[in-house]
Formats: sequence, structure tokens, C-alpha cells
Amino acid sequence: MSTCICVIVNGKPVEIVAGASVAAAVARAGSQFRRSRSGEARAALCGMGVCFECRVEIDGVPQQQACMLIARAGMQVRTDG
Ligand code: FES
Repeated sequence: MSTCICVIVNGKPVEIVAGASVAAAVARAGSQFRRSRSGEARAALCGMGVCFECRVEIDGVPQQQACMLIARAGMQVRTDG
């Protein structure tokens, strides 16, 4: 049996399995990750810290790679979406 935690993504509570990445929380919330300079929606591409397409703000700290960070209970995540 797996334990779940609650993360807040763009103000919306999202329940995910403990040990999952922040990127998983954003995907579960149905949010996009960010927008390109031309306004296109971007999403996590590589899932291993190379592409930087998954950058989000976490607890007020911008430009965090969501795919490289394990979500913690109560974490506040903001995306461009
Ligand atoms: S998805 Fe590529 S760096 Fe996070």
C-alpha cells in the first residue's frame, strides 16, 4: 500500500504518491509547465534534467526543474499555466 501526499499546484490541491516528482504532480493537476517566449505551451520532455522545459516555481523559488525534485507534502507549485 502506497502513501499519498498533497501538493498545491496553481492553488489546486493534488494528491500524488509519496516519492513522486513535482513534474508528476503538475501533470496530475492537468497544468502545463510553462510558456515559451512566443507563448507556446511547453511540457516536461526529457524527464531527466536535460531540457529545462519543466521549470516551475516551488515555494516562491523560480526556475526549479520539476522533473528532478521529489514532491513534499504542502509544497506550493506555480506554473505559467
Ligand atoms: S523534463 Fe527535461 S529537464 Fe525536466
